[in-house]
Amino acid sequence: MSSSTEQPGTLEWDEARAASWLAGAEIRERQLAPITEALFEVADLHPGEHVLDVGVGSGPTTAEAHAAVQPGGRVTGIDVLPAMIEAAKRTVPIAEIEWLVGDVSTYGFPAAAYDVVISRFGVMFFADPVASFTRLHDAVRPGGRLAMATWGRREATGLFGVPYVIATTTLDRLGIDFVPMASDGTMFSLGDAGRVAEVLGAAGWREIGTRVDNRVVYLGGARTVESAADDVLRGGPVAGLLDGLPAEAVAEVRQALVTDFTRRFDGNGVPLPAGFVLISAIRP
Ligand SMILES: C[S@@+](CC[C@H](N)C(=O)[O-])C[C@H]1O[C@@H](n2cnc3c(N)ncnc32)[C@H](O)[C@@H]1O
Repeated sequence: MSSSTEQPGTLEWDEARAASWLAGAEIRERQLAPITEALFEVADLHPGEHVLDVGVGSGPTTAEAHAAVQPGGRVTGIDVLPAMIEAAKRTVPIAEIEWLVGDVSTYGFPAAAYDVVISRFGVMFFADPVASFTRLHDAVRPGGRLAMATWGRREATGLFGVPYVIATTTLDRLGIDFVPMASDGTMFSLGDAGRVAEVLGAAGWREIGTRVDNRVVYLGGARTVESAADDVLRGGPVAGLLDGLPAEAVAEVRQALVTDFTRRFDGNGVPLPAGFVLISAIRP
């Protein structure tokens, strides 16, 4: 039974979460590859451009942006967590990339220095989204571009919505009380066109475009139903939901996930519609 209040979000980016994120980096790249491709189509990077990559994690999109702007281009990657930037430097040993540790909400970027800002799932966690996107706006030259991928609202993303419904249905069946996660909490906070237009518009961006993309991705990049279930339990809305519940409840949810995923398994993994949002905008 769910209680009437909701948990606001799912993710605080701290060193513990960074460690868990980095441990899953390799299989996550398999999951996210189709999304990265879609993001770079929207970003449409050209040789010679100067790119700012926001919330870089271990730096996969920073590396791809670097390749896309050669010859003559430059890429800067920023992340709030030192552990992420250390991992990025190790994973992407490209001397020409500039790595910054900093919170976008307060970082003093040089004015009008970049042609393009890109981000793959690094922009939904800002404490003050309008202030943060204003900083990014001011860091881009007039006529410069913004290209980002965010998640849709939880119920609109197969990737997170399907496991969440399995988990809540199981807890309801067992009669276990839980506090539901808000469908627009933290990682889903830039999940619909109205909210994106409101935030980016207030930050000065124009020609704001949003497109939901439901191409199929493999849950967690996992190749077995068991590892897909474990990926769901490791982080995200279901992990948040189960936090603090008895071990038997977690085990029942895991079993329900495995049962459902077994039906979906296609020989390569557990395919689900991604439900991500591609966002583009221009600094006037
Ligand atoms: C979901 S991860 C995405 C990482 C990477 N872009 C990728 O796709 O693999 C979000 C990243 O955003 C970073 N982040 C969160 N809030 C931030 C902020 N205010 N300023 C800079 N980075 C931030 C986190 O530390 C984390 O590395």
